[in-house]
Parts: sequence; structure tokens; C-alpha cells
Amino acid sequence: MRITLRIWRQKSGEDKGGFVTYEMPDVSPDSSFLEMLDLLNEQLVHEGKEPVAFDHDCREGICGACSLMIDGVAHGPERATTACQLHMRHFRDGDRITVEPWRAKAFPVIKDLVVNRTAFDRIIQAGGYVSVNTGGAPDANALPIGKDAADDAFDAATCIGCGACVAMCPNASAMLFVGAKVTQLSRLPQGQPEREHRVTAMVEKMDEEGFGRCSNHYECEAACPKEISREVMRVLNREYLRAALTKE
Ligand code: SF4
Ligand code: FES
Repeated sequence: MRITLRIWRQKSGEDKGGFVTYEMPDVSPDSSFLEMLDLLNEQLVHEGKEPVAFDHDCREGICGACSLMIDGVAHGPERATTACQLHMRHFRDGDRITVEPWRAKAFPVIKDLVVNRTAFDRIIQAGGYVSVNTGGAPDANALPIGKDAADDAFDAATCIGCGACVAMCPNASAMLFVGAKVTQLSRLPQGQPEREHRVTAMVEKMDEEGFGRCSNHYECEAACPKEISREVMRVLNREYLRAALTKE
């Protein structure tokens, strides 16, 4: 396949940045999007030029590191697919593809396509955990959990923290991400002791980090590679209100 790439290049957070066009004359339809970028970087290194910086780790759709805006869509055109799992056969020979980093105030660009997503880590540090006493592992059946609760918690737990929801939201809201974490832990017995503190602290931190509020566009749900449902934001709002009333 012949592909023309328009890639956002930015030396650092202070640099203004801009698009640079690259021609890729021989891309295999079987290569993944990241393998295609690897090929570009090999080409650039061979020419003595600076390779394009982009984030990746597992390349299996489970770590959430790959964060590419492809033709204006977080993770590209395939539904429920991370950028690392996207294959070039989903594009056409002769396509011109624009690749950008996530765009959000809370995710500043570090270099080229790499953004700083530690704001998510700080939200998790604020309350996205359960405190447990150490000791021997309890029996697996010592703490029965109903099927509905287990299913809800598991679905929410599939969030990989990629940030696509923030990147696609016109307000850069992190409510789908925070909603997923709050839903997961509020549905499990292990999450009960810190339930009120968790939601209050995570929402406060989310605001402090500069994420916006949901305005019901639901671009987040459409872009989420793990198909996290907007329902988690309803749970987040309910949990937040519940915590506020309990405090009263
Ligand atoms: S909710 Fe979806 S889009 Fe948002 S961080 Fe989690 S996996 Fe990524
Ligand atoms: S590199 Fe891990 S999800 Fe894409």
C-alpha cells in the first residue's frame, strides 16, 4: 500500500509544533498501525533524521499506552480497537492519514505524539484503591459476590486508562474513566469501607487536574476501545451525591 502520513511533530512541551508529511510507498496491509510507524522510524533513522516519538507498551490492547488520534478519532476508525490493534488493511491504498497526539489541557504534549497522562495516576492515587490487611490469602469463596455485581465490576474494570475518552470529549472530561473506577469498586464488598471518601476525592482531583465536565455528547463511549458504557457516569453522579448526603 502507498500511504501518505501527516504527523504532528513537536520537539517538547514548549515547542509550537506542526505537521510534517511523510511518504510510505510500501506498507503491508497486514502490519499494525504501530508497525507502520516503526517502519517510518526505520526510514527516518536510516536518513539520519529524528524518529517520531509515540507511546506503546503491550501492543496487545491491554496496557492503554498507545494514544494516537488518527484522522481525528482516538485510536482510529475501528470500533472497540486500540491503535496498537488497528491494522493497515482497514485503510485504502493511496490514503492520506493524519496522526496527532491526544489534545487536552490535562494531557500536555511531551514530544511528538507522546502526552503526559500522569493526571490519571494522581486521580487513582486520590481514591482508586482498596486498603487491605496483609496476611494469608483468604479462601476464594469466603466473600460471596452476586453475579450482577461481579459482572458490573468486571465490565468497569476493563478500562485500560488510555485517555481516549478525554481526547474525544469536547470538554476533555474524564468522567468515563473515573466513572469506570468508581463503579468497579463501589460494586464490590472490598470497596465499601472507602466508598464515600473514594468518589469525593477522585472527583475533586479530576477537577483540580483541569478535566472538564460531561456535557452529554458521549463521544467518550463511542471512542472507548473497551466499550465502557456511559452508565458508569450515572453511577459516578449517584455515588457522588450519596457521599455528599452521607457527609451531611
Ligand atoms: S474509559 Fe475507555 S477510553 Fe476512557 S480511559 Fe478507560 S478504556 Fe480508555
Ligand atoms: S500498546 Fe498497550 S494497549 Fe496499545
